[in-house]
Amino acid sequence: MQHSIHTEVIEIDPLAPEAATIECAAGLIRSGELVVFPTETVYGLGANALQPQVVERIFAAKGRPLSDPLIVHIADESDLSALTTSISATVQRLIAAFWPGPLTLIVPRSSKVPAIVSAGLATVAVRMPRHPVALALIRAAGSPIAAPSANRFMHVSPTTAQHALADLHGRVPLILDGGPCAVGVESTVLDVCAEVPTILRPGGVSLEALQTILPEVRLKTSQKEKSQETLAYTSPGQMLTHYAPTIPLLLFDGMPEEMRTVMLGELQRRRQAGEHVGVLVADEDVTAFEQSGAVVQSLGSATAPEQVAAALFAGLRTLEDAHVSIILCRNFDEKGLGLAIRDRLLRAASGKMFKQQT
Ligand code: TXA
Ligand code: MG
Repeated sequence: MQHSIHTEVIEIDPLAPEAATIECAAGLIRSGELVVFPTETVYGLGANALQPQVVERIFAAKGRPLSDPLIVHIADESDLSALTTSISATVQRLIAAFWPGPLTLIVPRSSKVPAIVSAGLATVAVRMPRHPVALALIRAAGSPIAAPSANRFMHVSPTTAQHALADLHGRVPLILDGGPCAVGVESTVLDVCAEVPTILRPGGVSLEALQTILPEVRLKTSQKEKSQETLAYTSPGQMLTHYAPTIPLLLFDGMPEEMRTVMLGELQRRRQAGEHVGVLVADEDVTAFEQSGAVVQSLGSATAPEQVAAALFAGLRTLEDAHVSIILCRNFDEKGLGLAIRDRLLRAASGKMFKQQT
């Protein structure tokens, strides 16, 4: 059991972070404490990456198993050389194109990085965020910062300080509130140690953008995708047993018109069975659901994946806070950030998707 501590939330200017606030947060990091801070993707739960006992506290605060490795955040390219044993030409090209930004690179781990950071792997995940608060904090702390997303294990990542507070109050002394995160989905994790560079997690840097630098890059099919079931539209309610972190989510794919009709049918069945239904849709769908009796949450235009990505996790949390018992969600196109959006939705749906069978 962890002692409950007081959690302070301090507002900070996301573009021009106040030096005194950064110094206060950096002082905590230097003394081995945890600090929640904004990045351009999601909020991170940070601590000195080079001290194993301190890194252990990150896992404890999140309730995360030690088998799940962390990302080390740096503020300058030159910080990378201490963390890895070799920097390939490919890595150099990727850094030139995408750092600072939402790209995490899996590189060989140097002995300076404690094994606990990488869950004992021979590699380490490194990223240089482009958020001014994150960069200022890392520089002032004087060490790389290990940081997973600042949510409790299995919950959705936080895109505001309030989300992080809801999950971690009493478990961290300080949350820096720099407002909502611009990207809204986590960084792309790219394994450049693999024979062919492989995306382990689609994220803030799109596959298309990576292909301009690395035409051979490929996407790893996760265990969940491998076991992905495509289910007939007919009677989804009978076909699924769901496991989801908080509220079960049903994901619907297909042509917009037909997809809405099927979602509405499922919605009515659920409401008749006494369920409190939430729907996660796009602006284009809202009118179709207006009279449905469901809690309707729109993520923005389906044609603007940047908007949808930025609104996604907050949308899920809003429906949780509305205490719906089930979430019906539409799918989005996989172009650009859409690939990351689909990945997160598919995970929330335990790998299952309803789709017209052809
Ligand atoms: O955008 C982000 O990446 C955010 C912000 C805070 O930077 N961080 C984040 O961290 O999403 P986390 O811990 O929630 O996700 C890290 C991901 C996990 O999927 C983990 O398995 C993978 O990176 N990872 C970390 N180290 C790895 C390694 N050595 N090899 C393979 N995957 C690794
Ligand atoms: Mg996470």
